[in-house]
Amino acid sequence: MKPDNLEDVIGSDKSHLWHHLTQHKPWQGEADPMVIVEGKGLRVKDIHGREYLDAVSGGVWTVNVGYGRESIADAVRDQIAKMCYFANSAGSIPGARFAEKLVDKMPGLNRVYYSNSGSEANEKGFKFVRQLAAMKNDGKKHKIIYRDRDYHGTTITTLSAGGQAQRKDQYGPFTPGFVEIPHCLAYRSPNGDDPDFGVKVARDLERVILEEDPDTVGSVCLEPITAGGGVIVPPEGYWETIQEICTKYGVLIHIDEVVCGMGRTGKWFGYQHYGVKPDIVTMAKGVASGYAAISVTATTEELFSEFLAEPAEHMHYFRDISTFGGCAGGPAAALENMRIIEEENLLDNVNKMGDYLMDKLHELKDKYPMVGDVRGKGLFCGAELVKDRDTREPIEESVGAAIVSDCLKQGVMIGRTNRSLPGLNNTLCLSPALICTRGDIDEIVTAMDNALAKHQ
Ligand SMILES: Cc1ncc(COP(=O)(O)O)c(C=O)c1O
Repeated sequence: MKPDNLEDVIGSDKSHLWHHLTQHKPWQGEADPMVIVEGKGLRVKDIHGREYLDAVSGGVWTVNVGYGRESIADAVRDQIAKMCYFANSAGSIPGARFAEKLVDKMPGLNRVYYSNSGSEANEKGFKFVRQLAAMKNDGKKHKIIYRDRDYHGTTITTLSAGGQAQRKDQYGPFTPGFVEIPHCLAYRSPNGDDPDFGVKVARDLERVILEEDPDTVGSVCLEPITAGGGVIVPPEGYWETIQEICTKYGVLIHIDEVVCGMGRTGKWFGYQHYGVKPDIVTMAKGVASGYAAISVTATTEELFSEFLAEPAEHMHYFRDISTFGGCAGGPAAALENMRIIEEENLLDNVNKMGDYLMDKLHELKDKYPMVGDVRGKGLFCGAELVKDRDTREPIEESVGAAIVSDCLKQGVMIGRTNRSLPGLNNTLCLSPALICTRGDIDEIVTAMDNALAKHQ
């Protein structure tokens, strides 16, 4: 980028772009948006040449293998030069290869459906349930249960399955047939100190299934570890109880691995920490680390078989298409992304560095009463900030924003929950690339330490 073009780029941006999740008013004055122009490893550079350590993998826990991977760029280039696109009613070489490699990491699952965003992948899961209800159960088993504080996407229907009030507000009316269960964050529950909290709060699923009538409930859609709702690692006994209840009432388990999938938590998938047997697993962000758009709805051979019929039964198959689910660059990038994770032994690194990061966050908690709770698994961590340790009253959102901005001034990008839960957007979030080192973590935590000291 030539320096004399900078004004032009920022001018075009300010005049014509509508940024995601952003109030533009400040940019009508002197303030400028940040424009990121290059990246290598965990570091990105903005248009003014300022370098940052990105502790949130592209802002939204996506660039799992880090920036500047020439081999992924080459894989995508080679693929799209030869064959860029054909609707996925036909096959592609990388599409078939990646499907096989992927299900190899997910015992019990065997079929892969491609689309191009996490929201869309979840919608496919919901459509499986709705169509199964129509084909098998007179339309009855159509309801989908979701959990308070979880997020499953930005479309009206995925928002209908969303447990974050501020994401939903003003976008209703919503799709019918979605029912909420309580969140499982011990720190924010009156019964959180109960050693059986995990089992007891999971029992709310059974209560809701019974209230709704088990014959009407098709699936439960949950994040394995809640991300944007505050980095919530489920308490002991939680997932085992969810599994038991779903088996008892014939309710399918749909796990949203859009954030946790592809190694973020130290296993290929978050659910694999808990011995759950999902029927549907969705994933997106880390699948190709943002080098190409791809999302996946994976399912069992058993569920897939329900859609098999003689061709004359012309309504008895999954009548769904995602145009860009046919882009061959997506699975080409995903194959190379997976090869990198395997060959560089990144799951191992996530476990080691995740432990180190959690230790460092505990040190911050010991040092600053403002840090009320720290949570996480692998390189997926959060620190919940409070005004008062005893009452657990959350800090104002502006304080969290100031801490994030202070880290940015020190050259470190951290994240925070925002526009999710009224009064509870108070968790700082960390999700550095899976390649991060102790040195990177020290730099991240030092920036947080300095910022917390300033705002305590
Ligand atoms: C858990 C979870 N599911 C689904 C989505 C939606 O993904 P996308 O933005 O690709 O539609 C997100 C996005 O942040 C997410 O965090």
